[in-house]
Amino acid sequence: MLSLNRRIDDWRGRRVWLIGASSGIGAALATELLQAGAVVALSARRAAHLQALAAHAGEAQAIVAPFDILDHAAWDERYRQICARAGGVDLVIFCAADYRPERSWEINADGAAHTLAVNIGSVYTGLTTVLPDMLARGSGGIAIIASVAGYVGLPNASVYGPSKAALINLAELLYTDLHPHGLDVYLINPGFVQTELTAKNAFSMPALLTPQEAAQAIVRGLRAGQFEIHFPKRFTLLVKLVRWLPYRLRFALFTHFLKPT
Ligand SMILES: NC(=O)c1ccc[n+]([C@@H]2O[C@H](COP(=O)([O-])OP(=O)(O)OC[C@H]3O[C@@H](n4cnc5c(N)ncnc54)[C@H](OP(=O)(O)O)[C@@H]3O)[C@@H](O)[C@H]2O)c1
Repeated sequence: MLSLNRRIDDWRGRRVWLIGASSGIGAALATELLQAGAVVALSARRAAHLQALAAHAGEAQAIVAPFDILDHAAWDERYRQICARAGGVDLVIFCAADYRPERSWEINADGAAHTLAVNIGSVYTGLTTVLPDMLARGSGGIAIIASVAGYVGLPNASVYGPSKAALINLAELLYTDLHPHGLDVYLINPGFVQTELTAKNAFSMPALLTPQEAAQAIVRGLRAGQFEIHFPKRFTLLVKLVRWLPYRLRFALFTHFLKPT
């Protein structure tokens, strides 16, 4: 298949900044990339989790760079430290997220603002941090982890879903904008993965993957140079299909599944 991005066949020496590396998909992805030989800068708030990941890899390969992505000044500070250690960043993976399951009548303004700031606002801050150097060099990659929750309006994901829909939109426009300048842009849409994030769900999650399975699917997609990396296909293709249903049918379907049993 024709690739929309350059294929990443060889990770050895590739400098990756992974934001949201302390647990779940991010931690599993960090492990995969370190094992494949990448130099990985690990970011999130829980420094001890990042240090534990780094301990398996060694100092030359893993850079522990903890910070709160809501702290605008810290982005620049961390970026400079990572560049000083690694000489630059080839690929940034935006993996951090905030989620709480809530129906529309349960939304609270502060919680919504926080989720939007973590899920979308931080990506904009990150882009303003890394893009000037990537554009000046004419190379680099941006990978954004969104979700199938961004494909359609799903009750329960009242703030998280719209934030992920925005990231899908953002990744699409970034590709059009940045690819002619030599940059690669990846949109990663996982289905359900068993992590701290989904542990909050009280409903049964179809086609649930382990973080390791998710990380391997992401690495496969990056290796193939795909723009949209979505998995598991048995679930994501179904949700894509639902997106094409007329609203009357789509809403009837959701209402049916949300009926109390
Ligand atoms: N699990 C799923 O089913 C699923 C499905 C589709 C998409 N996704 C997406 O996959 C990505 C990873 O999710 P996950 O399921 O692996 O969840 P997770 O285990 O809860 O990981 C979330 C990560 O975000 C970091 N984070 C949150 N707030 C932060 C902040 N203010 N500053 C710095 N880091 C922050 C957390 O680190 P600290 O708490 O240490 O800061 C953690 O490393 C997310 O973008 C999520 O939306 C997940």
